[in-house]
Amino acid sequence: MNTKDAIHPNVDITDAQQHQSNSCQESASLTRRRFLQGIAATVATAGAAGFCPVSYAAKGGGGGGGGGGTVTRNPLKIPPIVSPTSYALQAAPATVDIGGGKLSNVLAYNGQFPGPTFRANSGDSANIVFSNGLVDETTVHWHGMLVPTAADGHPRDVVMPGGSYNYQFPIVQRACLNWYHPHPDMMTGEQVALGLAGAFIINDAEEAALGLPSGCYEVPLVIRDTKLDRNNNLTYSAKSSGFLGTIPLVNGTLDPTLDVDTAIYRFRVLCGSNARVFKLVLSNGAQFTLIGNDGGLLSSAVTIGQIEFSPGERLDLLVDFRGLAVGTKVLLQDQNSGWTLLEFNVTRQVNAGGVIPTGTLSSIVPLSNPILTREFSFDGMSRINGNVYDINRIDFQVPFGQTELWRFTTGGNAPHPVHVHGASFQVVSRSGGRGVLYPWEQGWKDTVLLQDGESVDVLVRFDAYRGLYIIHCHKLEHEDMGMMANFEVI
Ligand code: C2O
Ligand code: CU
Repeated sequence: MNTKDAIHPNVDITDAQQHQSNSCQESASLTRRRFLQGIAATVATAGAAGFCPVSYAAKGGGGGGGGGGTVTRNPLKIPPIVSPTSYALQAAPATVDIGGGKLSNVLAYNGQFPGPTFRANSGDSANIVFSNGLVDETTVHWHGMLVPTAADGHPRDVVMPGGSYNYQFPIVQRACLNWYHPHPDMMTGEQVALGLAGAFIINDAEEAALGLPSGCYEVPLVIRDTKLDRNNNLTYSAKSSGFLGTIPLVNGTLDPTLDVDTAIYRFRVLCGSNARVFKLVLSNGAQFTLIGNDGGLLSSAVTIGQIEFSPGERLDLLVDFRGLAVGTKVLLQDQNSGWTLLEFNVTRQVNAGGVIPTGTLSSIVPLSNPILTREFSFDGMSRINGNVYDINRIDFQVPFGQTELWRFTTGGNAPHPVHVHGASFQVVSRSGGRGVLYPWEQGWKDTVLLQDGESVDVLVRFDAYRGLYIIHCHKLEHEDMGMMANFEVI
């Protein structure tokens, strides 16, 4: 215990003790203990993968990850787009170029960091044969996707090293940006921090009719933080208060720059950090046009100057570069850390059409008349309603098709981004703490930020599948320490 406390000055002792005495199977409790002992991980040296040896650099307009001075900027990587219809996906160590002159060891899906972007239409089917090339067990969870339990990447459905698993599901939901990442019990934080994550975009006819920016004008942005060792490798050290990196990465690119035309762009933005909350602003004071979030389009666009989002949340943003002179640089910044996340470099004058949509984007039917209220207290750093996660315990049951009000509360140790599998929800109120709902919390959500002293009410109805799902804190260190619960839709 003393050793642990020395390593983790912030550890919640009560939680830790409860962990040591919980009834997980032996291998599982050893692993959770390993977490509590604060192992530091780097990725073992991998054989040279198919990286691009070309060294590229562009002089940026200042800012830089840490701020200040001229930085060498690297072209923003755009992950390849693939179809999930019949796809082989492998998680394995890889060597990638994140910029900065040295190759980095990461964990990657199909050698890509971030992983390839899946793109499909509502009504398609996914058939993804996954193989585990890691040294640890893993699963793939399709965050935001409505899938049967067997395809949800539940920690019970672990894929052993060298093993494989077939994720099959119909795509039954509306257009939105989802994502995929590992979800093994107690090791999610490490695997995500070392690189395993990718985007999953669903398109549908309602969205297509809006004529939103597409092709090179639609850009996914996976925003996260990281910590590099002196050899430029991604590192991870478990910390019960949440892993915070020292520099940002966008699409796995260090100090990224994106050449843009004088046009409207659609950015599909994911907060892919383990624990860090970002507050996005544009350096020229321009506003974002917010058109969607986790579960797809909002009912109408919102013009807004700053947006705060936490691990697991997504944003669908339009940014208007029309009218800017060639040579103008606009920075996407994080006001919370002071970091520059991404530089936009206006390089080409075009007369592309494109409009900022006004009027209805989508019709969102509000949930109403909940049958009952369930309360979830996010306690300490590892418990929901006093319980540490037990993979074998079903914590509650929810009738299929019933609208319920779920109330999320916490006294401290926030941020707690609360995430629910198996359904999207609608946020109806927040009291305490920040005390208001934000424009990016409208519509359909699957992750909502709970700050200290807050109580957030959401309405939820599980009407896609019966089966086993989970609710958890998406601060991945809290999840790994046990701030997670199993429930059954019956
Ligand atoms: Cu993004 Cu249960 O996770
Ligand atoms: Cu938490």
